[in-house]
Amino acid sequence: MDNKYYVTTPIYYTNANIHVGHAYTTVIADAIARYQRMLGKDVCFLTGTDEHGQKVERKAKAAGKDPQAFCDEIVADIKQVWATLDISYDIFIRTTHREHTEQVQRIFTKLYEQGDIYKHEYQGPYCVDCESFWTERQLQNANCPDCGRPVQWVTEESYFFRLSKYQDRLLKHLTDNPDFLQPTSRRNEMINNFLLPGLSDLCVTRTAHQWGIPVPFDEQHRIYVWIDALSNYITALGYGDESAQFTKFWPADLHLMGKEIVRFHAIIWPALLMALDLPLPKQVYGHGWLLFGNDKMSKSKGNVISSVELAAKYSSDAVRYYLLKEISFGSDGNFTEELLVHRLNSDLANDLGNLLSRAVAMMEKFSHSKTPANILADEPDAALIAQARALPEAVRTHMESLQFGGALAEILELAKRGNKYIDETAPWQLAREKRFDRLSTVLYNIAESLRVISILLLPFMPRTPQRIWEQLGLDAHAHGDILTLASASTFGLLPVGLNVKKGEPLFPRVEWEPRAEPETTTTDTLTPPLLPAVDITDFAKLDLRVVEVVAAEKVPKADKLLKLTVLLGPTTRTIVAGIATHYSPDELIGKRLVIVANLKPAKIRGIESQGMVLAASDEYNLAVLSPARDGLCSGAKVT
Ligand code: MSP
Repeated sequence: MDNKYYVTTPIYYTNANIHVGHAYTTVIADAIARYQRMLGKDVCFLTGTDEHGQKVERKAKAAGKDPQAFCDEIVADIKQVWATLDISYDIFIRTTHREHTEQVQRIFTKLYEQGDIYKHEYQGPYCVDCESFWTERQLQNANCPDCGRPVQWVTEESYFFRLSKYQDRLLKHLTDNPDFLQPTSRRNEMINNFLLPGLSDLCVTRTAHQWGIPVPFDEQHRIYVWIDALSNYITALGYGDESAQFTKFWPADLHLMGKEIVRFHAIIWPALLMALDLPLPKQVYGHGWLLFGNDKMSKSKGNVISSVELAAKYSSDAVRYYLLKEISFGSDGNFTEELLVHRLNSDLANDLGNLLSRAVAMMEKFSHSKTPANILADEPDAALIAQARALPEAVRTHMESLQFGGALAEILELAKRGNKYIDETAPWQLAREKRFDRLSTVLYNIAESLRVISILLLPFMPRTPQRIWEQLGLDAHAHGDILTLASASTFGLLPVGLNVKKGEPLFPRVEWEPRAEPETTTTDTLTPPLLPAVDITDFAKLDLRVVEVVAAEKVPKADKLLKLTVLLGPTTRTIVAGIATHYSPDELIGKRLVIVANLKPAKIRGIESQGMVLAASDEYNLAVLSPARDGLCSGAKVT
């Protein structure tokens, strides 16, 4: 068994304080790191901050601060948040650390000298106001995705990384290793939308800002954020300095990140590693987003919730529990404080907290405040004991497939079972009937189940187990050997005669009080502003039709264009569509799409396009429009 484990979170931008969306990735990484440590592995858990770039430079300027001082303040805040949430990182990397910047410069020079980075004239859309280059895909309605203003087409000298050279190796790696990128939907997306259509070389420098690592041999160019940021995963371990840490921990076992930056981790990062002749990470996992009323929680939308505030209100363990249990890992999940309160009351207060307080109260009353002896087992015990014995293995299975919600559900099931066992065995009745041996055994089984539960909760809720132990009379040091993961599979290890003591309720019930609606309107950069109203007669001028794609191919030398042959009733038409970076030709054949059929024909790259395919797009995705039901004839009118 590999005895080391290296897990990473993305490094967070220091352009604003972080919110519970960022805490989500970090809490997950923390639960994994803690679990792996309990398995006896030597764990390196890396997190940190991504501090360079124009956004930080501009934010610092707006705040009247030097960028470094500005970042220092945000980093202090982030570290405070992680302390509040009990994040047990081993390394906190900052991209402004000298060790990192020097190593990034060496990496850049090495790639340049071996021909993987070259200087070239860059042509593309540029926003003067934001001083930013964009790719055509990033534009929103041909405007700057940041400020919404029109962009200019500019030409500038930049350095490029030869990403295209690694396309075949990347495709093979993703195809041959299904576990490399998970969940499967993201793997398919990378293969179909990026690798199969073909990769372009990547612009890796900028001249528009100063706040970045200079290209060592061409000082007016700054290394653009992704080479700088992605390298953190190896520079943090001391890559390039013959570091034992690096030899021990690389390759990473798991890179965790949100879905919008999977492309950087599953395509660009592996290509850089191939260029550096380094092994690839074992797994890249792109989780979903924490949504807030169906919107991504994000700083620019102004709908952020602070995890420190939540932890102060409900306890950090309750916040961690909610994030790990309620949001199905891999998918988007809605964050609502109301649901957090509901979970806290039903799972933590009712099931877990109640079990402990009932157990302690009964041991105080019927067992002289001592853990009792296990004397007279009976049939009703078997189900509880079997469930407790099976729990560590069930949790392990869920952890292996990164299903934290499943793991927590199993643990809470044992708490529920414990409560039911109390109802079934009715200890107060046993006391009345003076069946003391049986009473002792029943109380023992309940307390021992709580020991098992507390151990398995450790990775997820690091504070709660200690509080359970205090009430059961267990001491983390004196009883360390029966509080290990290995000991959790053996039922019956709880010593007799420990001093049981009632404590504060683990999770007092909370009344749900809705927050006051924020008074300020939020800025929404993802939804472009609506255009002025038009008359229905204006709309009626457009002839929208359903067509069927019968052939599709890439337009040579045009990365973004597909040439489609479509059937409109009995006739065929040729349409050129700028969707090649999102759809492979094969994917479209046989699909029914909606087109504008009476748009005047236009020549695109020498091909006459006889209509326009309708598609919807946002900052990250593009999707062609299709009728939501089968059976419509091609040529059907869209009204
Ligand atoms: N700096 C880059 C990452 C570089 S890694 C080499 C970056 N930073 S970020 O601060 O914008 O985001 C960091 C992580 O936080 C991403 O994984 C992102 O998905 C995650 N989240 C930010 N908002 C989130 C939600 N609302 N929900 C879930 N994750 C969220 O990107």
